[in-house]
Amino acid sequence: MRENIASHRRSKEEFQDFIKKLELQALETAEERLPLYLEVGLKDADIVLDVGCGSGVVTRDIARLTKGCVIGVDGSIDMIKVADEILRDYDNVELCVGDAHLLPFNDNTFDIVTCNLLLMWADDPQMVVNEMARVTRPGGKVLASLEPDYGGKIHWPENPRADPIFAGEAIRKKGGDPHIGRKLRALFTLAGLKTTVGIGNCRIWSCEEDKRYYLHARDFYIKVLRDAGLSEEEIDEWEYEYLKSLDDRIQLNFFPQFYAIGTKT
Ligand SMILES: C[S@@+](CC[C@H](N)C(=O)[O-])C[C@H]1O[C@@H](n2cnc3c(N)ncnc32)[C@H](O)[C@@H]1O
Repeated sequence: MRENIASHRRSKEEFQDFIKKLELQALETAEERLPLYLEVGLKDADIVLDVGCGSGVVTRDIARLTKGCVIGVDGSIDMIKVADEILRDYDNVELCVGDAHLLPFNDNTFDIVTCNLLLMWADDPQMVVNEMARVTRPGGKVLASLEPDYGGKIHWPENPRADPIFAGEAIRKKGGDPHIGRKLRALFTLAGLKTTVGIGNCRIWSCEEDKRYYLHARDFYIKVLRDAGLSEEEIDEWEYEYLKSLDDRIQLNFFPQFYAIGTKT
């Protein structure tokens, strides 16, 4: 098995920030993911695979909802070390390093194979979904619980300088596919799965919720703008306008998060 396939190329400090961001993301998306886990029958599954498990915060939700055994696999050794720590009290979880493009498991092994925010970062998402389908048993389910589509982002009032950066430019620069959400149906169907797709987050957050999230993730937003070449003055101006429209309760954000459920026939 190749090791550290998904090396994160981050400094120690950036890695810690990323771990915090995953924790926050897992909390903020729980209301969308948990119904999907129930829909695919997680409660009664015997063996489940979480591909690209990262720091294990989503694997923990999965482990809590099943009586079965959960295997988490990730390409980064550093991520697996963090996940080991986070999941140390869960005796139904096992972790390993492995490449999602070449899963180190036999055909037809798992009742459910799931991933969260992985396909956006995969070099070849079709190969990953094909692998997820291969290791799922006939009648089992493949679930991509959350894959965003930055092209479907809606933000008002507009900011012509910052909006395109947040609407995909920053992700593309980091090597991610900002339009992965709209590709889920094709990826799953071409992997031979009987496929249903949907949007997990139909609710529009209140300005208070958006502000709370922004304040938690502020360092991340500022860094994205800085990396995109905005001056400190431009960033200050953007932040002033952004917070003002939240405090005036006129800002609206929508960011579609797609899911796909595939049944292996
Ligand atoms: C955005 S994180 C999501 C982590 C976790 N699923 C969550 O939602 O908190 C993406 C994860 O996918 C892993 N990853 C990326 N490419 C991979 C690959 N080819 N094989 C295995 N893991 C991969 C990264 O190391 C990272 O931990």
